[in-house]
Amino acid sequence: MSQPISLAQPRRFVAKGPLTGAIRVPGDKSISHRSIMLGALAVGETRVTGLLEGEDVLATAAAMRAMGATIERQADGDWLVAGVGVGGLLQPAGALDMGNSGTSTRLLMGLVAGHAITACFIGDASLSKRPMGRVIAPLSDMGAKFTAYPGGRLPLIVTGAETPVPITYRLPVASAQVKSAVLLAGLNTPGVTTVIEPVPTRDHSERMLRGFGAELTVDIEDGARVIRLTGQPELRPQAIVVPGDPSSAAFFVVAALIVPGSDVLVENVGLNATRAALFDILRLMGGHIVAVNPREVGGEPVADLHVKASELTGITVDPAVVPAMVDEFPILFVAAALAHGRTITSGLEELRVKESDRIAAMCAALTLAGATLCETPDGMVIDGSGGKRLTGSGTTAIVTHLDHRIAMAMAVAGLASDNGVTVDDTRPIATSFPMFEQLLHQAGAA
Ligand code: S3P
Repeated sequence: MSQPISLAQPRRFVAKGPLTGAIRVPGDKSISHRSIMLGALAVGETRVTGLLEGEDVLATAAAMRAMGATIERQADGDWLVAGVGVGGLLQPAGALDMGNSGTSTRLLMGLVAGHAITACFIGDASLSKRPMGRVIAPLSDMGAKFTAYPGGRLPLIVTGAETPVPITYRLPVASAQVKSAVLLAGLNTPGVTTVIEPVPTRDHSERMLRGFGAELTVDIEDGARVIRLTGQPELRPQAIVVPGDPSSAAFFVVAALIVPGSDVLVENVGLNATRAALFDILRLMGGHIVAVNPREVGGEPVADLHVKASELTGITVDPAVVPAMVDEFPILFVAAALAHGRTITSGLEELRVKESDRIAAMCAALTLAGATLCETPDGMVIDGSGGKRLTGSGTTAIVTHLDHRIAMAMAVAGLASDNGVTVDDTRPIATSFPMFEQLLHQAGAA
């Protein structure tokens, strides 16, 4: 998406009827990225099933190919990755186009930082606004060199360290991407690389590094998670089954809660505790969400979620849960806009540096759709409609700023509105959830 040549695709989402039946969520984006990256660093062939074939993950796959891995699609979601071994990444011939994907960019910056190669990262207009200083700082301490656009932004060039230095890094922001960038740089670093996480974030990197045979320990010391990775392991190829993405399931769960008469089974939802706080919050708001058929997929807890339309009540969201639902606030705001009473959120500073400023973007979009709310520096206060449909934006388009989650959240708001909600551009949805609109149709809601 760096050179958008296709035209924006606006679409109006209108109320049609309840969501019914069963829908299956696509593979988890975070786990999909990591499966390709670690598969590419193992010696031998890794098989990945249930891979999310969204644009973000495809950008990761293209970059790993450009650095020497062989990556082939066998069938839907079924991929083979032949790795080059830790330390074996090759100098890419051209720039690595990261499209819209912050996760690809930051994690791959870590991988390159630990190899004596040079890579140039480029991305679309949204990604080119996002701060990379948060990974440049620790990776520079490890010996990598960076030339970035002013403000530490893309395009940027990384030259990895000849002999990377292991560091102990205390995360200044709760960010799984920063944690993972340092750990991935630590893979080709002699000695022990340590990351201290005062606030826990998603732990997929730790789980998967261990699964591939790396020596990685996690201890709680003075209330913080301390992760220690011993560098230069030989990673063993794996068979990875990617569980469904709770961040994608979230849109269908909220849609079913707010569209009267809905009764849906959302299948294959990853419920890793570092990801699944939205469902707990929605239950506290009165949402009928029952986890059925709990099981383990790819070492992660998974269940199907039985969701029925429910009367929701506003809530004050404890900022401590923010990292475990950091991508779910746009859709939580929609649920809150339809609830009875007031919802108060705070501690959301990080939302301002996602694919868009998600606080500002959702305030503008929901206001246009007729919701009552007010923006604060680190959150939003929403006075719900008490279960009454929103008026909707009608044919006036809300602005998504190339942000897939704003587009999907406002599409769901449209399903609970009188006049529908027009989304200015649905193309970014393909970065994380290419089947979104098709599944809405399948559930009978659009
Ligand atoms: C992700 C981490 C989170 C999240 C992003 C995916 C990951 O970002 O918002 O969608 O896969 O590590 P931050 O690390 O910036 O919080």
